[in-house]
Amino acid sequence: MNKVSIIGAGMTGSTTAHWLAEREFTDVALIDVVEGMPQGKGLDMLEAMPIIGKDVSIVGSNDYAETKNSDVVIITAGIARKPGMSRDDLLKTNAEIVGNAAVEALKHSPDAIFIILTNPLDTMAYLTMKKTGLPRERVIGQAGVLDSARMRAFVALETGVSVENIDCYVLGGHGDEMVPLTRHSNVAGVPLREYLPADKLHAIVERTRKGGMEVINLLKTGSAFYAPAAACAQMAEAILKDKHLIVPASAYMNGEYGLKDMYFGAPVQLGRSGMERIVEYSLDADEKTMLEKSAAAVSETHDALKKLVNL
Ligand code: NAI
Ligand code: 2OP
Repeated sequence: MNKVSIIGAGMTGSTTAHWLAEREFTDVALIDVVEGMPQGKGLDMLEAMPIIGKDVSIVGSNDYAETKNSDVVIITAGIARKPGMSRDDLLKTNAEIVGNAAVEALKHSPDAIFIILTNPLDTMAYLTMKKTGLPRERVIGQAGVLDSARMRAFVALETGVSVENIDCYVLGGHGDEMVPLTRHSNVAGVPLREYLPADKLHAIVERTRKGGMEVINLLKTGSAFYAPAAACAQMAEAILKDKHLIVPASAYMNGEYGLKDMYFGAPVQLGRSGMERIVEYSLDADEKTMLEKSAAAVSETHDALKKLVNL
């Protein structure tokens, strides 16, 4: 059986375990610093397996030894954004948490592929790659699957068409400057720009960009977890089943899209070796401008990290 370890058994971590267990392709280890919490969640979820008929092991622990020989490690440990707090405010605290988690997890699973969720996302993925010294293929950030799913959900609400018919691509950094690509997005092959009037499309793009904050403002005590966790589970599945699935995700840019030495959201192909390749879309002048703006915002956070942490 495959093994996925999730570091951080809070809302996104435990919900990722839930989505994974339902799919029955991997055992799961849940790790957290809070004593008893990952053990309790792990046991509770394990006790649900007879009801849903899935033969997987789910174990919770405070000890990284339980993560031994994982195929995939998902890092969700950190603090979540509260109302009025920007993603970048999280930088200092989360850099320490994620850096340590990545190094510890790698000691027990030297061959694992890492999926990072903790915010500020692109910069935490960058930090993980630098701290572990892993090649870029083995460290991928989750953002684009979630941001694109939000856009797909909003298009489905507007059109009344099945979510399965709707493909959307949101690239760039996981921040307010993310780039929903309306020219590449479509409803059953019909470009979104032809399917929806400009004002409706504009509203969907804006709602997508602010999608994370919309949920935070409703929840008040934390941030989104069902959709982010479903996104992590889809990425882990694509890797472990060697699907060669192309999804938008945050990857280390080495010249792609004209960017270097930074993590940034782009279409990437996922398979058993991790990030197999970055797909480069042809972009028009407006799209290029939006990506450049988004890249500048991500670079700023990367620079702030470099001032705080020795990489
Ligand atoms: P949460 O607060 O529910 O869970 C975080 C967990 O991390 C807590 O259980 C906490 O005890 C644990 N933790 C803290 N320090 C730790 C350490 N050193 N080792 C192990 N565990 C540790 O938060 P939630 O909602 O799960 O969000 C987690 C992170 O994911 C946040 O930074 C949030 O902003 C980010 N996020 C990113 C998304 C994305 O699309 N990239 C989407 C949703 C959340
Ligand atoms: C989100 O987009 C908080 O980044 C998180 O929901």
